[in-house]
Amino acid sequence: MLYLSIESSCDETAVAVVESPDGCDEFKILSNVIASQVDVHAKFGGVVPEIASRAHIEAISSLTYKALSDASVTPEQIDRVAVTTEPGLIGALLVGVNFAKGFAFSYNKPLLGVNHIKGHVAANYLCGKVDTPFVAFVASGGHTSIIKASSYTDFETVGRTLDDAVGEAFDKIGRRMGLSYPCGAEMDKLAANGDPKAFKLPAVHMKDGSYNFSLSGLKTYIINLLNTAEMKGEQINREDVCASLTKVICDSVIYQIDRVLKENGIKTLLAAGGVLANSHLRAALTEYCGKHGVTLRMPPLSLCGDNGAMIAAAAKYEYEAGACSDMSLDGKPSSKDDWKSY
Ligand code: KG4
Ligand code: ZN
Repeated sequence: MLYLSIESSCDETAVAVVESPDGCDEFKILSNVIASQVDVHAKFGGVVPEIASRAHIEAISSLTYKALSDASVTPEQIDRVAVTTEPGLIGALLVGVNFAKGFAFSYNKPLLGVNHIKGHVAANYLCGKVDTPFVAFVASGGHTSIIKASSYTDFETVGRTLDDAVGEAFDKIGRRMGLSYPCGAEMDKLAANGDPKAFKLPAVHMKDGSYNFSLSGLKTYIINLLNTAEMKGEQINREDVCASLTKVICDSVIYQIDRVLKENGIKTLLAAGGVLANSHLRAALTEYCGKHGVTLRMPPLSLCGDNGAMIAAAAKYEYEAGACSDMSLDGKPSSKDDWKSY
């Protein structure tokens, strides 16, 4: 089966052609192309939704035909079309959804809307069979979720951020330190040379018995620290800030993941999302899982950020479970927590 999959929920237009036989867990990524808008948004210090929508419109048609030509596949040969429908920037989502609808209608192909967070988790399916049930941890620029999954398609969100996402906290603190958007990758490098104990920072996990996170207090705390130092004419070591910030995030993530795994008797963890490119978080999760006999799956760095192939992987199992969309398919800025009936 050949999937054409489209992702446009934020600031990357991404299209992939992925081959996967029905009833089998093997995938071949024939093409996976991305038109990044990072440079366009960098001068504003974050994503400008209207500019993102326009840039998607400009990119999507030629990018789709590039994905097809890189895969040496014609539109007629595509078996199924998949597209991210939620959650994300509504104007950006609608570009992908309407293009996918047009493509599916013109070539008379089945169409399926895919949840973006499910897509991030599915980046792991591309790398081999996964044991179920599993716990998934997704951290990106817009989302921070802990999910209990009883199968590849039945997901229940059990924890989330109540305010800023992990990537958003990195980006906003990084911007205050004068780094260029998106700041996560550069902060990862700075943290490697800093002292993680230089600043005593507040934890980001909720202490109310939930599996939730709250990052806005930490973000404000660090921005105040930077503002106060600037007012006093003092220098703050950026490496130390990044190392301390990364450590407190890693500690809180491990704290909540440990609780979810133990309280639900689950021994498999799938981590995903742009922030999982973070070398310190990858090392912390690897160390934790090694010590606790938990099987850890993380996508390679090339599949952590937004991409089209992960949407195809999620769509495959949804199609095989009987899901299909029609021409009333629409984008949605937010998503529900219980995806059983998706
Ligand atoms: O998944 P993604 O590409 O897009 C969204 O769905 O949001 O994630 C982008 C986020 C940005 O906030 C970026 O700063 C963060 O991932 N990121 C990182 C690293 N690489 C990207 N955060 C921490 N460390 C990294 N190495
Ligand atoms: Zn994403």
